[in-house]
Amino acid sequence: MSVGIIGLGYVGLPLAVAFAEAGEQIVAIDVDESKVAAIEAGESYIEDIPSERLRAALPRIEPWSHFAPLARTDAVLICVPTPLTANREPDLRPLIAAGQALGNVVQRGQLVVLESTTYPGTTREQLVPLLEHRGLRVGKGLNVAFSPERVDPGRTDYALRNTPKVIGGMTPECTERAAELYGRICDQIVRVSTPEAAEMSKLLENIFRSVNIALVNELAILSDRMGIDIWEVVDAAATKPYGFMRFEPGPGMGGHCLPVDPFYLTWRAREFHMSTEFIELAGKINQQMPYHCVERIERALNDQEKPVKGSRIAILGVSYKGGVGDIRESPALRIMHVLSERGALLAYHDRFVPALAELGLENVPLDQIAGADAVVLVTAHPGVDHAALAGQAQLFVDLRGVTRGLQLENLVRL
Ligand SMILES: NC(=O)c1ccc[n+]([C@@H]2O[C@H](COP(=O)([O-])OP(=O)(O)OC[C@H]3O[C@@H](n4cnc5c(N)ncnc54)[C@H](O)[C@@H]3O)[C@@H](O)[C@H]2O)c1
Repeated sequence: MSVGIIGLGYVGLPLAVAFAEAGEQIVAIDVDESKVAAIEAGESYIEDIPSERLRAALPRIEPWSHFAPLARTDAVLICVPTPLTANREPDLRPLIAAGQALGNVVQRGQLVVLESTTYPGTTREQLVPLLEHRGLRVGKGLNVAFSPERVDPGRTDYALRNTPKVIGGMTPECTERAAELYGRICDQIVRVSTPEAAEMSKLLENIFRSVNIALVNELAILSDRMGIDIWEVVDAAATKPYGFMRFEPGPGMGGHCLPVDPFYLTWRAREFHMSTEFIELAGKINQQMPYHCVERIERALNDQEKPVKGSRIAILGVSYKGGVGDIRESPALRIMHVLSERGALLAYHDRFVPALAELGLENVPLDQIAGADAVVLVTAHPGVDHAALAGQAQLFVDLRGVTRGLQLENLVRL
């Protein structure tokens, strides 16, 4: 079988490798020529896919930067970005561009699956018309489905194989074809009746996380004012064996998904005369967290009789989550911008992020940050001895709670 994959990022590249490992022939497309060149050279740019694994799969992967080779595939999976515009509205330009380009080469008998997170109705209203324009019709020679990607970058206990895959086809036949395809790389398939149900299920998952993170963040701000240790509170609440699910407070949400996807639904809901209050409120609280963290840093410096202006502040971890180098929407960047505006002299250490061009900074070795006026842990990467660093620092501000339980004079937590 031959599988085409459009968009070779965090979602598309792992899918390409998984299908290649399952013995399928892959036509891999990206408009970013540097990614195509990297794949050709067997150099992975996604942490979850080591280059050795990519190289082993490479005999079955053909990378291209144009769409024509997709004409000879049996199925095409679309994994392009779905960002927001500057006005925080869905930006479907990458999806429309990919759909148009695919529409020019799509063949009778092909299955097309959209994986990108988006609002309910996108597959039916936006994608299908682009594919049907050359006389093909869904259900009559063309199958289309939505199947949301659930990858959690950096996670090792749940990967593509053991994470159930939700599929909603335009027709029952579309669903069955997609189920047969994904059954080759996933152990469990979850069928839903429509693409809209599948699209909405992905948004529910992400909104659930966003709302619960906002809830614990709000309680973290309140606990700070009340002099209560929020980490101790979360640990205690999490001992309840039922009716409670643990979420951690932190410096705010980052990545491509949680700060972005919920607003696809907010936008869509307006068409149905509804405002999605939980989503808006969660977004507001989570966006406020970096500012609360700056205030926490300022207070800690103040206690040491130092102003932010002129203080050397070293940020530990700048990607949006531990174990990955993705800096999209990372709260660390907002924190650094605000500190920089207030005159702080910034440096950072993050072995996954070699440089932050917009701040004009490069990764400095761990041993060079210990002497800063304040070391601020924003993202905890595995393999870093944070407790030891807290012991050495003049001031250590822990925004992730990894030093919970540790009592040091120079240590403060969110
Ligand atoms: N990253 C995650 O953890 C994650 C998890 C679940 C779902 N998703 C969703 O999956 C989708 C893709 O996310 P990602 O993180 O893989 O994005 P990404 O930016 O890492 O990768 C997308 C790729 O698509 C390419 N691209 C853009 N326009 C294109 C076009 N017209 N034709 C061909 N290629 C094009 C880009 O060059 C890029 O390489 C998004 O909708 C996202 O919300 C992401």
